[in-house]
Formats: sequence, C-alpha cells, structure tokens
Amino acid sequence: MGAPAKLKFDPSGLPAPVALAASEIERRIQRGHTGEELLNQLAALGRLREEELTDQRSSGAVFTPYDVAAELVDRVEIGPGDTVCDPSVGPGVFLLAAAERKLHNGESVPSITQNLRGIDIDPVSVAVARITLQLWAAWRGDHWPTMNSIVEGDALIQTPSEWYGSCDAVIGNPPFLGQFKSDTARDKRRSSVLKEHFGPRYNGYIDESMLFVLLGIELGHKKSRIALILPTSVLGSDSSRAAREWIDETLPLKALWLGGRSIFDTATVDVSAPILGGSQASDCRVFRHGSEKTLQITQPGAGQWASLLAAANGTPRVQLTGRHTLSDTADVSADFRDAYYWLAERVTEGEVIDPRPRLATVGLIDPFQYLYGELEVRFAKQRFRRPVIEIEDQPPRPLANWLLRRSNPKVLVASQTRVIECYADQRGDVLPSTPLITITPTDRTRLWHLLAAVASPAASAWAVTATAGTGLSQETVRLRASLLAKLPLPAPSKRWDEGADLARQIQSGGRNPDTIIQFGEAMNQAYNTPSDELLQWWIQRIQKKRP
Ligand SMILES: C[S@@+](CC[C@H](N)C(=O)[O-])C[C@H]1O[C@@H](n2cnc3c(N)ncnc32)[C@H](O)[C@@H]1O
Repeated sequence: MGAPAKLKFDPSGLPAPVALAASEIERRIQRGHTGEELLNQLAALGRLREEELTDQRSSGAVFTPYDVAAELVDRVEIGPGDTVCDPSVGPGVFLLAAAERKLHNGESVPSITQNLRGIDIDPVSVAVARITLQLWAAWRGDHWPTMNSIVEGDALIQTPSEWYGSCDAVIGNPPFLGQFKSDTARDKRRSSVLKEHFGPRYNGYIDESMLFVLLGIELGHKKSRIALILPTSVLGSDSSRAAREWIDETLPLKALWLGGRSIFDTATVDVSAPILGGSQASDCRVFRHGSEKTLQITQPGAGQWASLLAAANGTPRVQLTGRHTLSDTADVSADFRDAYYWLAERVTEGEVIDPRPRLATVGLIDPFQYLYGELEVRFAKQRFRRPVIEIEDQPPRPLANWLLRRSNPKVLVASQTRVIECYADQRGDVLPSTPLITITPTDRTRLWHLLAAVASPAASAWAVTATAGTGLSQETVRLRASLLAKLPLPAPSKRWDEGADLARQIQSGGRNPDTIIQFGEAMNQAYNTPSDELLQWWIQRIQKKRP
C-alpha cells in the first residue's frame, strides 16, 4: 500500500448518493485507511447506482453482486498484462474483480488500470465505473488513472475500432433483452445495423445478450477467454442456434457456469455463463454458483449447449440414430392464434354424452390420458368440466380447412412438462388449442406406434437434452413443433410393435404402473437405449404426475 494518494476526485456526473459514498471512500484513502472493507464499499457504489434506476427492465440494467463477478473472473484465466474488457460495464464490478485478481497475481496497479476497458450505453454508469476504478487504484497503488478507457456508447455499434482483436479476456453481464416483448425489442433501424454486422449469426429474435458474446469474440483473438452471464434460455433457444454453432467453430465452449435463479436481488431469471477459450481439455466442465464441485461432461455437438445443462441436472444421455424422423411419417404442427380465437367463441359446457367435438388444452393432456370430464379446465377466461365446440354449418374458409385437418386421428402433445406427455385421439374428435402440438400420421394405422415413440423414455431424454433451460424451469421440456418434427424414430421392430400395443393398453386401461414399466422397457429396446438409468429417470418423472 502506498502513501496517501493525490486524489483528483470529481463528483460531477455522479448521482448524489454515489458522490457522497465515493467522497467518504476518498477521505478514508486520504487518511491512509488500508482495511479490506474498502473493497466492499467500492463494490457498493454500483448498488447505489442501481437504486437510482427507474426503468431496469427495458435497459437490462441489473448489476452483478461483487462475489458473483469475482467467482466468474476466477473461472477465466487472466494473466499479467492481459487486456480485460467488459462491453456492458455498468458500474464496473467485473473490472474491479479483474483488477483485484491481477493485483494478487503480482501485476502493478498502473499496468492493471491501463489494461482495463469498458463501455456502457449509460453515461452515469460509466462515471460510476471510472470513479470506482480510480478510487481502487488510489487505494491499492497510490495512483490516479484517468480511466478514459471506460467509455460511453452502444457496444454493439460504437465500440472503438482499435479494441477489436486486442482483448485477452472479455467478461461481464450484458443486458438481457428478449425480443418477443415490445418494451425490450430492438427497433428496426438498430436491427438492420446489427443484421448487417453479424450476418447469418443474427436473428431477429436473438436475445441481445447473445450478441454481446458474438461481439466479445470479435474483440478477442484466437487465445482469448470469454465469460458473459446470459439468460439460461439462450443455451437451447432456436433463435441463438446459428450464433452458438458459429461460436463453437470460432472459440469453443470450454466450461459452463450455472448461476441459477437467485443471484440478482432484482431479477429472478435463471442465468448461466458459457466460458469460451482457455486451456485445452477434451471434456467440458460445468460449475454451479457457490459450489466447489466441478462436473466433467463430454463435449457436446456444435451449438448444443443445453445438453450440458441437461447432463448436469442428471438427464441420461441418449444417442438416437434412427434413419427416419417423425416428420417423415407425420405432419407435426402447432396451431395459430386465429384457431384459438375461433374456438374461444364456440366453446361451451357439454353433456355427459355429447356428439360435439371436445376441446383439448395442455392442462387436459397427461401421459397417455385426456382428462376431459375429470378435471375442471380454464379456457378463454371461463371454467369447464366438459368443454365442447359448437360449430356453425359453414365455418370461415381457413378455419374450415383447419377443422378438416384436425378432425383426423392424431397424437396430441403438451408443452412445458417434465417428460413428453401425449395422448392418441383415435377417433379424431378432439380439437386442440394452442400451444398443444398435433402429430397427424400419414398412415393412420401407425397412430399407436407414433404415440409409443413420442411417449418413450428416449424421446423425453432427447427433448430435455435439446431444450434444457428454455422452459419455465430447468426441469421442464419446452417442446416446439419444429423440434419434435426432428425426433428420430426407431427402426421397425417387434419391440416397437409391442411398445405401440402397450401404449394402447395404458391409454385405454388406466395407468397400471407395471404396464408403464413394460412400455418403457419395450421402447428402450426399440430405440436401442437399453439403459436402466434412463428407465428410472423417466419413471420417476412420470410418477410425479397426478395418479
Ligand atoms: C445487466 S447490466 C450489467 C452491468 C455490469 N456489467 C454488472 O454486471 O454489474 C447491463 C448493462 O448494460 C448496459 N447496456 C445496455 N445496452 C447496452 C449497449 N447496447 N451497449 C453497452 N451497454 C449497454 C446497461 O446500461 C447496463 O449497465
């Protein structure tokens, strides 16, 4: 620790509570205070900034606790003299943690501060980050850097050109801005600039945070390391698939840090940080926030980051090698909103015996069961026990076509469940409402075979592996019709015939636990995934359903 520093503290640009706290820290440093609690006080400047913000949702400004930033910094290898950049620097907590790490690695304070870079769209956060690092340098090294390398700007568009290709480590917690909601969606002009910049890796629905990973790679070089906190949903979302595949080709995923749902005070989104680059290893490592334990997991295929999360959560690994997929033998589709509104205007309470088509919602589909008449269901803001559809003589054209397609034998599949839950509508008299997925076999004699394939333990493990993290919780499968269409089917075999037969028995005769086990075993054989672990995993999940 040096002699009291010559501080050039300037509170302009700082919110009053931050200026007050910063001047208190300044006084302590002037008095030669050396206690480690100064570190907490510096980190707390960011919190004071956060408390000032009124619209955190649309700017994605949720600041990272210091211990989380330090944990991530420890997961990336930062060597002496390395240039470290945070492209959404906020009040600078990641740079503060990186500065501390470098100091403990023996780097001098002037060298450290010279090698830190940050950019943020919010000028006040930039001012807070600068003062934080200046006070840190004064405290740790009797030094007062300008910190002009922390700049204001839209990182995805205005990062200084000389930063590109020159950063050894890129760390941080970029804004999470989902593109399905209008208050967080990009405007057209920005969208077209970003599309131009990122080319085929860009997608109109890609979360903003994932674009920061692409930027991070551009800022780095072949040996850089990158760790950015992201919403866990991007590990498996369709909109970021092209980006993930490109990243794996460019700076492969080396590890995955799982932060969980509770690391931020103000947001409950589940977060992870893919860690790219660094020492060679054949396996991928998975760490959980606050845990010393490391899992070694076989490197996933290109862009299949969700599979690491699935494996870390105990999902058995399956390799489905069938030559044909579901879409080769069936139409797999979801329904459009118009169909929902049309149904909503025609749904009514049915009689015990009623010839009208019955309605299916996700809540009414359980494994091998359609709970019509057994469960009260909410649809279009009303409650029904036997929802039926009163259809006019001549429905409008697009809906008449839809009705025709949906009035066939089909398999109905729920989304957001722990295992794939599906039911065969043999008579074709059940009308699905969104977001149910409908599988209509080209050859209706294969209905039970398709039910058996989709309901099998292997299909559930396959779906969880592909989509982990994209659902309401890490435990749920979030099925999309486009994904389900790609489900590999087993090769024709006696075991699949047996599975189809057992599926029919389970559906018609109640869910006898022994028959369910026999079904799981038969389909494990049919899929050539004869694993007891897979069977147990599936049975445990299916048993948690209503009896
Ligand atoms: C989730 S906060 C994280 C801040 C900081 N990295 C931390 O962990 O405490 C995201 C930050 O990104 C900034 N931001 C949002 N859009 C940005 C953009 N296009 N370019 C640069 N910064 C941006 C916000 O102002 C906010 O400070």
